[in-house]
Amino acid sequence: MYNEPMLKDGTLKGKTLVVTGGGTGLGRSMSKYFLQLGANVVITSRKLDVLQKTAAELETETGGTVLALACDVRNDFEVEQVLKQTLEKFGSVHGLLNNAAGNFISPTERLSAKAFGVIIDIVLKGTVNCTLAFGKHWIEQKQQASILNIVTTYAFTGSGYVVPSACAKGGVLAMTRSLAAEWGRYGIRCNAIAPGPFPTKGAWDRLLPGDLAKKFDFKNRVPLKRVGDHQELANLAAYLMSDFSGYINGEVITIDGGEWLQGAGQFNGLEAVTPEMWDMLEAMIRNTKGS
Ligand code: HXC
Ligand code: NAP
Repeated sequence: MYNEPMLKDGTLKGKTLVVTGGGTGLGRSMSKYFLQLGANVVITSRKLDVLQKTAAELETETGGTVLALACDVRNDFEVEQVLKQTLEKFGSVHGLLNNAAGNFISPTERLSAKAFGVIIDIVLKGTVNCTLAFGKHWIEQKQQASILNIVTTYAFTGSGYVVPSACAKGGVLAMTRSLAAEWGRYGIRCNAIAPGPFPTKGAWDRLLPGDLAKKFDFKNRVPLKRVGDHQELANLAAYLMSDFSGYINGEVITIDGGEWLQGAGQFNGLEAVTPEMWDMLEAMIRNTKGS
């Protein structure tokens, strides 16, 4: 596995980037790399104590500047306050990474309307709230910017047992492509990343609780037989936030080691067949005559 930082020093110098859900997991890892590349980073989520701890650690680790702001993305007023406080601190803002999410596994018929709604509200409505607030600001300021949305591969395949998340991420993907077309003329690029399995406490505790982590080992579903490394995702996110990707707009880039295609191909399960079994099967097939 090659997991070195990819971009040259100073790639994001002079940029201020807002990362929702930036206090933990993948949001933290992407924020760290943005800081290493010279950006100022604003990290937001509901838990200010978590954010402040992460901000202090990231500043020590990278020497960059981090602003930690409590904000529930479901609340459009709180999102407006993030924009306001970001401008007060840094003067301008150049990118938005919609990374905050909520999710848990459940048979859909066990969900209340509220349980379904809470995921839609965090993932879809939260992304809408942030995108609208920052997008309107950039259009008014006539400023170029980059919006990056973290979706999943089941945003386009669908998936049982995470149906609210699939619906919400599918909506985010539709918004990504729609706004790429509509806001491109303002110089606002809108792209998405669809990660496969990247271990984080937030996702693993809710998607693979208890024994499930062993029984449903994600790496067995991936042709490359491993999960993703956070730096691999951070490299892609930094590229999409940087000016190097200036002509990429409306794209969703999958980074999953081939996981979703493995599940899609009708005969991919045949990897379980041993060479000896293949000898037998081949003989049987060759002996087949007529219908
Ligand atoms: C059924 C459940 C439930 C469960 C909660 N609910 N957990 N229903 N099964 N396991 C119901 C509650 O009973 C309630 O409905 C409603 O959902 C709201 O629950 P609250 O706990 O009040 O909501 P809240 O405190 O806002 O918490 C939101 C949350 C929580 C989504 C439920 O898990 C959270 O805070 N998550 C944030 C972080 C996160 O999820 N990270 C993982 C992202 S991973 P009723 O009707 O009973 O009142 C990801 C990976 C994708 O997206 C792909 C990976 C490969
Ligand atoms: P995580 O650590 O649980 O990240 C989710 C973040 O969202 C948390 O920091 C959480 O902080 C924040 N959040 C939740 N509800 C919020 C709300 N209402 N308002 C503001 N912030 C909120 O899990 P992760 O694995 O790093 O996930 C990050 C992103 O990657 C998500 O979009 C997820 O869908 C996506 N993803 C992950 C994987 C994976 O394998 N890990 C795969 C595909 C996609 P608070 O609790 O403090 O609010």
